[in-house]
Amino acid sequence: MIRQTNITSKKAIELEKRFGAHNYHPLPVVLERGDGVYVWDTEGKKYYDFLAAYSAVNQGHCHPRIQKTLTDQAGQLTLTSRAFHSNMLGHYEKYLCEFFGYDKLLPMNTGAEGVETALKICRKWGHEKKGIEPENAKIIVAENNFHGRTITVISFSTSPESYRHFGPHTPGFEIVPFNDANAISDLLESDPQIAGVMLEPIQGEAGVIVPDDGYLQEVRDLCDKHDALFIDDEIQTGLGRTGRMLAADHEDVRPDIVILGKALSGGMYPVSAVLADDNIMEVINPGEHGSTYGGNPLGCAIAMTALDVIIDEDLEENATEMGKIFRQEMEQMVDQHDILQLVRGKGLMNAIEINDDEESSAAWDLCMEFKKHGLLAKPTHGNKIRFTPPLIITEEQLRDSLEIIRQSLENF
Ligand SMILES: Cc1ncc(COP(=O)(O)O)c(C=O)c1O
Repeated sequence: MIRQTNITSKKAIELEKRFGAHNYHPLPVVLERGDGVYVWDTEGKKYYDFLAAYSAVNQGHCHPRIQKTLTDQAGQLTLTSRAFHSNMLGHYEKYLCEFFGYDKLLPMNTGAEGVETALKICRKWGHEKKGIEPENAKIIVAENNFHGRTITVISFSTSPESYRHFGPHTPGFEIVPFNDANAISDLLESDPQIAGVMLEPIQGEAGVIVPDDGYLQEVRDLCDKHDALFIDDEIQTGLGRTGRMLAADHEDVRPDIVILGKALSGGMYPVSAVLADDNIMEVINPGEHGSTYGGNPLGCAIAMTALDVIIDEDLEENATEMGKIFRQEMEQMVDQHDILQLVRGKGLMNAIEINDDEESSAAWDLCMEFKKHGLLAKPTHGNKIRFTPPLIITEEQLRDSLEIIRQSLENF
């Protein structure tokens, strides 16, 4: 039975404010239902969801196939911990390994845990396989990265609100400008303690920053040359979002470690995964890493169906086609409205930049205008608005959404 709250938006927001930690600043909309590309608020107003839970809902809200898997498996077996085997885990690991072409998978729950896992594997590999002194391996990351919120992960964030006053921070990270392969090359040349390079192939939280074509390949080549691991954080970009299953596929680059999360469960449940080959994954032994829920049968079942949906509904292709239309139409709006500076992105991972500084409220105000007209999006880094609708969006729905954006800009 669904617990009926019969609550107004105003009351729901008051409750969160009174009883919840203030660690987010949501748009003032209270959602109670989702279906496909749409969500409804407590007053019954319908919106296009142009955030899709930061790309976790690539398959659309409450996808019937994923929902059925969830309810079926929930009545069968949900959690064993890794103290025992389950009939689902190996099956799931085989499916993902074969699909993405890796030897092994390490299952976790949230994206940040996936990132932590990859970093631990890389450091241990650095010692055991590359011969770096114990506890001395370093990892290169990019400026303006976003890889999650744990202490280690925020230790190499360059956004003060992420790292400030949360120290002491975890050492062992070297920060270079994004899209600058020379900076990575210099560090790899000069420092033999570097075990790996971790990147988002497109920086999502920073405002959908797409690197130059060839950058990922250059990083791949540099890692090969200097015996370092290329860790590819595909938590936001992966699973069809940019028009390919992995964003690294655009350059036919095969990372050493791939991190998946978000849409791996189609928004139903936290599921993340780290993929690597045996020579890397074998550095992890029993007792060295894990999580009570990681690899649980419910998550495994959901993830397999969530991936089936992406494949069966050809969401990569749809993301490519709809993304082209989106950018084409948005470019016209950029030409027509001084408030817009540019649109950029790949597939259905796009952002507009507002002609104002990061401190201005223009992006927030524009999102409020979108909301009034029935579309939800959220500013990122002050003056950018990310547009990442579910990948199931049809051309008709997309054009309708573009009309809402156009109307909002005219009223703004
Ligand atoms: C690229 C990337 N890595 C890691 C994370 C962290 O994932 P989670 O919020 O599930 O911990 C995110 C979340 O936005 C992300 O975009």
